[in-house]
Amino acid sequence: MSSLSPSAPGVRYSNYQFRCIGCGYTTESAGQDFRCADCGDLLEIRYPHWKESRVDGAQVKFIWQDRKISSNPVDLSGVWRFRDVLPVIQKEEQAVTLREGNTPVYDLPQCARIAGLSRLFAKHQGMNPTGSFKDTGMTVAATFARMAGFRWVACASTGNTSASMAAYAARGGMRSLVLVPEGKISWSKLSQALDYGAITCQLRTDFDGCLKLLQELVKRAPVYQLNSINPFRLEGQKTLAIELMEQLEWQPPDHIIVPGGNLGNSSAIGKALIEMKELGLISRLPKLSVIQAEGANALVRTLRETGGKELISVPAETRATAIRIGNPASWKKAARVLQATGGACEEVSEIEIAQAKAEIGAEGIGCEPASAVTLAGLKKLVTQGFVTPEETVVLVLTGNLLKDPDYTIEFHRGDLFANERDRELKSLRRPPIVLDASLDAVMRTLEEAERS
Ligand code: F0G
Repeated sequence: MSSLSPSAPGVRYSNYQFRCIGCGYTTESAGQDFRCADCGDLLEIRYPHWKESRVDGAQVKFIWQDRKISSNPVDLSGVWRFRDVLPVIQKEEQAVTLREGNTPVYDLPQCARIAGLSRLFAKHQGMNPTGSFKDTGMTVAATFARMAGFRWVACASTGNTSASMAAYAARGGMRSLVLVPEGKISWSKLSQALDYGAITCQLRTDFDGCLKLLQELVKRAPVYQLNSINPFRLEGQKTLAIELMEQLEWQPPDHIIVPGGNLGNSSAIGKALIEMKELGLISRLPKLSVIQAEGANALVRTLRETGGKELISVPAETRATAIRIGNPASWKKAARVLQATGGACEEVSEIEIAQAKAEIGAEGIGCEPASAVTLAGLKKLVTQGFVTPEETVVLVLTGNLLKDPDYTIEFHRGDLFANERDRELKSLRRPPIVLDASLDAVMRTLEEAERS
């Protein structure tokens, strides 16, 4: 039996090592900063035995399919179901899981028409247990934190990582410390961290300041850091792409478009695509493109101005607070996967983000502002001819609509932008209407709406 399955007798399985993305140094163990002891660059997880073992792609696909009818907790997880391509855990009960993954792929016919495509899909990671894609990475990293015996886990966050980490820490019997920029994360995300029992510090700085402080903290205190610098996070987030390919019956789309903040997710998706190609699970690579907000466009500038050689940090400002990041930690990993897959990197304005978010909402799907950059960016890529009308495109919607209700309400009330003149936006607004509790008043409103 030639597969990656741990159950296959005589076959080495999913044993990993860390490799430095800068100098290529490999090691069996990593320090708490997850950086190379030699050159200081980030580490990634590699599976050296994949080269030796002849992987039967068809068989692995069958095993993954078969697990869908199992009631084993690790099979019910849309991450651990793909455990053959993840760092191995000795006992399945060790997995800290909330049945993450298993997220839907929706078609977006109206958005397709708006963008000028014949069809368009969205992989909605906002349908994860805590409402964002972070859960797929957190289940793996929290599991390894617990297996390593840590009592405390910690992260810097623009909100979603902290919500996810707090939930998985609670499930795994660990304590969690959250560092978030004061006043710059949504109440929904903050409230999740509080309810899941995290010790939550609102620091008078931005995300980049929080992350810098965390890097110092992990050197001084026995806490396990769960930011996406932690390569176990990226291994879990890889499964987004694997599950997507399975949902598309292993026919890769032409393009996958993802928002870029700290750039862990794009790196993870790119790694998954490259590995799936290596393992023979897919026959060609989709182009992976990253979209950033104009006010937080470090990768856009890095690629344009240095060809991806040196990071250009920016002072970040955007109402899409999830991606309000100016000094992205995983920029080098992201730049590489964009290059390997032939993807693009674009930036979009605040008005373009708001418009795209309302258009995704009007499909009955919805997402948080950071996720909507994907549709806004797609429109630009179509205009530039990088995406052509007949191509298949998948947008990765990273967070749930309910993650940032203030933004949505301000948009519909017309309060989001100070001097906003765009007509397109007005037609998308559905402000709440305050009326006397009279049947006539409601009837009149209904008739007016019918005429408009
Ligand atoms: N979309 C959402 C909803 C996010 O929360 C984030 C990042 C991103 C996109 C960008 O992903 O950082 O991997 O490039 N949120 C982090 C957080 C930074 O702390 O929740 P990335």
